Amino acid sequence: MISNNISWAASVLTEGGLVAIPTETVYGLAANIFNADAVDRIFSLKNRPPFNPLIVHIGRQEDLEGLVKNVPPLAAKLAARFWPGPLTLLLPKKDTIPDRITAGKPMVAIRMPDHPMTLDLLRSIPFPLAAPSANPFGRISPTKAEHVDAYFGNQLSVILDGGPCQTGIESTIIGVVGNQITIYRKGTITEDALRAFSDDVVTHEKKDSEPIAPGMLDQHYAPQTKAILTNNVNELVQQYAGHRIGCLMFQTPPPEVAGVVGKVLSTSGKTEEAATHLYAYLHELDAMALDILILERMPDSGVGKAINDRLQRAAAGHITR
Ligand code: TXA
Ligand code: MG
Repeated sequence: MISNNISWAASVLTEGGLVAIPTETVYGLAANIFNADAVDRIFSLKNRPPFNPLIVHIGRQEDLEGLVKNVPPLAAKLAARFWPGPLTLLLPKKDTIPDRITAGKPMVAIRMPDHPMTLDLLRSIPFPLAAPSANPFGRISPTKAEHVDAYFGNQLSVILDGGPCQTGIESTIIGVVGNQITIYRKGTITEDALRAFSDDVVTHEKKDSEPIAPGMLDQHYAPQTKAILTNNVNELVQQYAGHRIGCLMFQTPPPEVAGVVGKVLSTSGKTEEAATHLYAYLHELDAMALDILILERMPDSGVGKAINDRLQRAAAGHITR
């Protein structure tokens, strides 16, 4: 049930239930990290492979101490600058963190989400929350309580409604070793923003020998409708003439052709604004039962890189050009 009752959510979590929580990035499906049954239910409800670890959400910087063996100085600086906010740090886990959370890995992914309701919730309970995005595995991430309700309405007693997510795409995930920052999942905290803290910032590229790195499953965030990613929307619209086409555009409307509907992510051409609307517009277009979605590639700079990454995955398994 959609609700804004934080203390009810706290008691459901304390009793070992699951609660959908708003964050600035996307809605999460949350459970007490120390309750094995509850954590198992996250995996089963999402139909998520057990080898895909979960992000731990905390409400206070000092919560880190009980969870990780050490915090490298550079990681501490980044947490001080970006938390609460859309940055997830991979840190060496203490034994107190159940292996189920990290899928047996020695590192745990941790972040402090920047949403007033969820911060209140986290600060009112004595345990951190494991929370993947609140979508079935491989489907479009939810950025509104209604999206979560459509996916899991009957199975969740509480979906905390914190309004539409302001950031709109998942957190940037990084590892820190010495002075080096490795980006595992791109987000709105960009490579350029991280370069202010280190001149050694690298992006982890997927290798065949290592199919499961963070956020790196090829097909992910995917609409049910066949989707194509392109630089040239006009050409594709012509090619699919006669079909019912949905266009997800960056800044300009799609060509005015019969059978074409369109959504524009940011009429002023701001990639941050485009990220805010990305999943909500994808949900809308996907619900229209169209023949094909044509996704316009963003400028490959700033937050555009993270959006292109999500668009690429939305089109994976379909056709990319
Ligand atoms: O913005 C976000 O990060 C959202 C909100 C709800 O906080 N959460 C989120 O969770 O996107 P999820 O589960 O949908 O994506 C988490 C990604 C997965 O790709 C997972 O493989 C990676 O983080 N991950 C989590 N723990 C990890 C670990 N210990 N080592 C490596 N990768 C990890
Ligand atoms: Mg996810």
